[in-house]
Parts: sequence; structure tokens; C-alpha cells
Amino acid sequence: MSKITIPVRKFDAVIVGAGGAGLRAAIQLSEAGLKTAVLSKVFPTRSHTVAAQGGVSASLGNSEEDHWHWHMYDTVKGSDWLGDQDAIEYMCRKAPEAVVELEHFGMPFDRTDEGKIYQRPFGGHMSNFGEKPVRRACAAADRTGHAMLHALYQRNVRANTQFFVEWMALDLIRDAEGQVLGVIALEMETGEIVAFHSKATVFATGGAGRIYYSSTNAFINTGDGLGMAARAGIALEDMEFWQFHPTGVAGAGVLITEGVRGEGGILRNSDNERFMERYAPNAKDLASRDVVSRAMVTEINEGRGCGPAKDFVLLDITHLDPATIMKRLPGIREISIQFAGIDPIKAPIPVVPTCHYQMGGIPTNFHGQVVNPDGSTVTGFYAAGECACASVHGANRLGTNSLLDLLVFGKSSGDSVVEAIKAGPNTLKDLPTNFAESTLGRLNRLNTQTSGASVNETRLELQRTMQKHCGVFRFKDMLEEGVRKICEVEKSVRLTEIGDKSATWNTARVEALELDNLIEVAKATMVSAEARKESRGAHVRDDAPDTAANPNGRDDEKWLKHTLWHREGNKLTYKPVQLKPLSVETIALKTRAY
Ligand code: FUM
Repeated sequence: MSKITIPVRKFDAVIVGAGGAGLRAAIQLSEAGLKTAVLSKVFPTRSHTVAAQGGVSASLGNSEEDHWHWHMYDTVKGSDWLGDQDAIEYMCRKAPEAVVELEHFGMPFDRTDEGKIYQRPFGGHMSNFGEKPVRRACAAADRTGHAMLHALYQRNVRANTQFFVEWMALDLIRDAEGQVLGVIALEMETGEIVAFHSKATVFATGGAGRIYYSSTNAFINTGDGLGMAARAGIALEDMEFWQFHPTGVAGAGVLITEGVRGEGGILRNSDNERFMERYAPNAKDLASRDVVSRAMVTEINEGRGCGPAKDFVLLDITHLDPATIMKRLPGIREISIQFAGIDPIKAPIPVVPTCHYQMGGIPTNFHGQVVNPDGSTVTGFYAAGECACASVHGANRLGTNSLLDLLVFGKSSGDSVVEAIKAGPNTLKDLPTNFAESTLGRLNRLNTQTSGASVNETRLELQRTMQKHCGVFRFKDMLEEGVRKICEVEKSVRLTEIGDKSATWNTARVEALELDNLIEVAKATMVSAEARKESRGAHVRDDAPDTAANPNGRDDEKWLKHTLWHREGNKLTYKPVQLKPLSVETIALKTRAY
């Protein structure tokens, strides 16, 4: 076959994704003088980080005593011991520095009366190794992610980062030695396909919550980084672990921040009972998310849900001072009025657990370097934020640790790139012959296919399958059937047809390409979940019995290990959890209770 050519642009580094992680990484690179391109499907300040509401965690201790070691303990416990303790120590120790640095970038945090950064309690964050809820979430009202994106974007403008807005990355470029040499991308405005050739490539593509029917995630969260990594032969880690946020607006899915419960909000069932007192006597409504979501679903399943169909519970803040709601929670009041038709000052908000976050992703170490199954690193490839698995969240993430993750690992991946580029050759390694062949093949199929499956219907089928077969509670038979069904959906994905073949602003083409990524994430999730025969964190199976040796259905003897899903053959391998922290003693395994 003759060599196919497409335009090539050359950079020191290419970052895919302009949410918090991408922007934080870009600051390191641009301020170090590297020629840095950031590709984003949307304008940076519209990235999904904008939707993070309640806060970013750091043991600043601004209102009461706190310590990074307590934060570390909570994160390990929250992860149900699946998180790597070296990475968790690194993140929790770096947190205060990361937040103060952000403040110096111009982040408009709320203030205490003494002028310090305002902190509120959040689920699973406790004082003194699990004693009682502590104020650790540094907040800008309930628009923390929004404020953060603006601060980081402005800093990038100052540093001359080059943004490619409304560009979608389609595939990684990887050579025969496995080195990553950039990405192939689509300019959505013109339909042009361009190669971004670079010494380093950082994925900060965010989550893939759109594999579920009900999700707090933006429509852009289609797992593009995971799809590209999987197609390039990178195994995906711990994809069975998905977080269902307890409080999505019933019927709409839009997020109501956990900060509402941090400010004193209470969950109630149809008997007006504060039911979390039964499930988590100590932390109550501020137990970790997996625990609260399961309690809510149990209440609904046992007939104590609210509304005509008894299919939601209520989040009550009517007892709070309206001035507090207007000051600390203005955004959720607006969301509640818009999406539920309810003013929370006057009546409780109808809520249900909704898919919110992927704990797994592209395997990295805490330097943001992508790692192979044997522990070696992939030359030229880095990842940070929700698309990466460092692994600090393990089987369940604590609220506010996502904004922290993207700051800490955005920065560390940036530092790693700077170090590697400064130590490496000055010139770019040659691109392989026909590096764009498979991408152009996918595009050509879409341009020429004149009959086939509808993108919309196929995506709906995928989302319904995930929601039904791999939700808050998981069942052996449903998981087995889920694997069969998702493989059927994949056949339709390979045969999608788009009516509009034009080049300019072709959103039909973009959605078809996004579906190519969603299916990889869905397969990874379903196959990994079916195989893990225990309950841990957010992965809870009906056939994992509670025994003295396996409390809460967790089986440390067989399953204290990370899953690696390989696209080739839908194969699974496993690797050990890093139980050894960097400087302190291992946080020993025990039964998780709140
Ligand atoms: O509830 C929230 O404000 C979400 C925060 C998070 O996911 O960390």
C-alpha cells in the first residue's frame, strides 16, 4: 500500500484534554519553556471539571485540627484497601501545597472569618484515623471546579500555552518499539485530519460516565483517552469500579454536591426517617459514597422510596438558614429549581444515585508515567486526572479527592515530561510509515457506509446495558448476560452509519467516533466486573458472601489485586496492590465501617 500522508504539526509536548489535569500539566510544560499544544473538544473553561462542586481536599486544618496522615488513612480506607499506598501518601502530603499554589494562581476560595480558605466536611473525611467528620474540603461556594478551571486557564494564557479548541484526538501514534509519538486529531470545524508529532503525550481526557444511561457526566465524557489507549495496546486498570454519586437529581441525573450534606443536609425516606443512622451510625449522611448509594437503593428496593413510583429519596436542607444556602450552596439551589422544580429552601430535593466517576483508567505511577503490566513505563506517554489510574481511589473514591488528584498528578506528570524532554534527544523520533492508516480506515468506513446501525440507538443500547447489568448492586447472572450483550452491541458499533458525510462541523461523525471509545470502556468495565468474584468498594455482588474471613464480601486472600483489561481478546491479567507507602507504615487491612 502506498504511504498515506496527512499534515503534521510538531511540538515538544501534546496534552489531550483541557480540564483541570490537562491545564495543570500544561502550566508545568509551558512555564518550563516547552512548545506545548493542548487539544480539547470544548473551550477549556467548559471542560467537565467545571461540574465539580463541593471542594478540593487538603488537610489545611483551617477550622479544626487536621493532618495529611489522617487524610491518607481515610483515602486508603475509602479505597477499600485497593488504592496504592505510595501514591496515596504522595497525593495527601502534596495536597496543602497544591491548594495554596492554586490560591496563588488566583483561585477565589471562600473565606473563614479569619480570612483563611473555607473548608467544609465531606463524605469519608474524618479526624484522627476515623474518629469524626473533619472540615477538609476547600471550597469556592458550590462552584469549586468552575473557579479552578478559570484560575488554571488564566495561568496558561500567561504562560503562552497553545490551545487547539474544538479538536478531537482520534488515535495515539505508537511505533514498533512501543514509544508514543503523538496523536492524530480531527479539527471539528473543518473536518481536517492532522498529526500532532511530539516528544511527549499527556492524556488528561477525563471520564467516561456516558457509558451509563443515568450520569452526572457531561456529554463530552466519552472515554476518548481510554479508547485510544486500548486501541494502542495499553491495558486498562480496575475498570470494574465505578462511583455512583448518591445525589443526582431524580429523573435528570444532574449533580447535587455532597457539600449539601457537608453543610448539614439530611437524606430521608418516605417515613421521613434519617435512614443513614442505621447504615453508618458514626458518619451518618457523611459516610463514603458507595455506602450511601447502596443505602439509598436498599431503601428504594424495600419500598421506602418517595414519590408516586417510590423511586427516589429526599435530600433535606429546609432546616438550614436560608442565608447559608444562598451563600454556600447557590448553585445547587439553582439546579434544584431548574431540574426538579423545587426550591430547597422550602422543600427537600428528590435524589437518586447516579453514575459519577471511574476509579480505574490508564495505569500510571504517581509521576504520571503510563506503566506497562510488567511495571516498566511507556516511553513518551503520560496520563493524569480521571482518565488515569494512579491508583489513589482504588475501589471507591472519596469526594473532593478528584480535584486533588488532577492538581497533584497534573503537576507531577508535567514535571516528568519536562525532566524527560530535558534529558532526551533534541529531535523528534521519526513517525512510523502509514501511522495514520487505521484512523483513516475508520473514517473512511464512516464516509462510505450507506446502511447500518444508528449511532444514537447503538449508544442507547450500550448505556441501558451498562445501567441494567453493572449498576450499584451487581448480580452474577446479570453480569454474565451483560458481557454477552455488550459484545453484541460492539458488533453494531462496528457497523454504524451516519447520514451526514459532510466535513464541516459534522457532529454525527464526532458522535460515531466517540461511540468507538465508549464501547472500549463498556467492554473493559463489564468483563472486569464479571470476573471479580468479591465485593469491594463500589463493586458489590450478590454472590460474594459475608464470612468472618471475608467481611462485607471482600476477599483479600484472592482479590487484593488490580485488574488489567487487555482489548486484544478481552483478556484479563492482574497485578499486586502497592501496600507499602513512601515513608510511613502500611495502613493495615481491616473491615470497613463508618
Ligand atoms: O459532590 C461533589 O461536590 C462532587 C465532588 C467530587 O466528586 O469530588
